[in-house]
Amino acid sequence: MTDHPEILLPDDAGITRAAELLARGDLVAMPTETVYGLAGDARNPQAVARIFAAKGRPAHNPLIVHLARMEEAEDLVDLPAAARTLAAHFWPGPLTLVAPLRPDHRLAPAVTAGLPTVALRLPAHPLARQLLEAFGGPLAAPSANPSGRISPTTADHVIAGLGGRIAAVLDGGACHVGLESTIIGFDGEQAVMLREGGLSRDAIEAALGTQLHARDAAKITAPGQLASHYAPRARLRLNVRAPTPEELWIGFGPDCSGAALQLSESGDLAEAAARLFAALHEADLRADQIAIAPVPDSGIGAAINDRLRRAAAPRTPESEA
Ligand code: TXA
Ligand code: MG
Repeated sequence: MTDHPEILLPDDAGITRAAELLARGDLVAMPTETVYGLAGDARNPQAVARIFAAKGRPAHNPLIVHLARMEEAEDLVDLPAAARTLAAHFWPGPLTLVAPLRPDHRLAPAVTAGLPTVALRLPAHPLARQLLEAFGGPLAAPSANPSGRISPTTADHVIAGLGGRIAAVLDGGACHVGLESTIIGFDGEQAVMLREGGLSRDAIEAALGTQLHARDAAKITAPGQLASHYAPRARLRLNVRAPTPEELWIGFGPDCSGAALQLSESGDLAEAAARLFAALHEADLRADQIAIAPVPDSGIGAAINDRLRRAAAPRTPESEA
């Protein structure tokens, strides 16, 4: 590990170098379509320990394992039928499935924080896919931010947060979804929403032909879902139509003409999701008080509002992920 991470370009040489670093147990931040992930060899206990150390992440909060192909998922877990349906519809893409581990999985134990399940995702970003192919195995990758801080959607965000603690960043520009993957767990065959994210509840329910259950109603562990999360340094106030003079106002939609930053002039939720974390990073650098306009709760708006509520929640000593 170096003082400054290597910045790897999104070409063959960059991918080869990133795979080489991962193979020797170093950490590489990689772009995905959702946010940048802090990747390490999921079978190497030292690499996994480095991920937890670099993020300052509590050991009880498990990591998502990223794969290049569906067959690799079959080697690691027993997929419920509903999980297969979702994988067929949405992988590769912004969806994470939590399923029971097979006994012969070979993942480093810390990846799953001792749970009998593991979270799996096939990312759609071409660079993430190329890197997974070149590395040739499962990569554990949480979002590439210090635990409890705003997630990174550019290589600059990664460097600002974790710069001295990682070997390299593969620079793929801005992430186009901009919010983390939707996480679905299973209570037997029943699909349960564990985290709202880049894939909407409506799309998932349409694919399943049934409604998702709420996490609280199911007996499912979701260790990373604490209230305070994604926290900026500045104070954040939500649903603000009339900011005070001290507040930096982040707007949404055409009625926010005085806003310093805009999530989407036209009120497009996908555009707002893609810009959300960058807007919070920038507002946090410019102001001590941030106000944000109301964002509708439909579609991916539910995930935007989830992140905003967490960003505005009182800080706990153990803010996570
Ligand atoms: O889009 C994403 O999901 C990004 C990119 C990099 O893939 N990753 C990401 O990872 O958001 P992270 O570590 O920041 O969030 C993963 C969440 C945590 O809340 C963790 O608790 C939960 O997934 N998780 C992981 N394994 C789990 C399991 N076995 N059961 C329940 N929740 C789990
Ligand atoms: Mg995270």
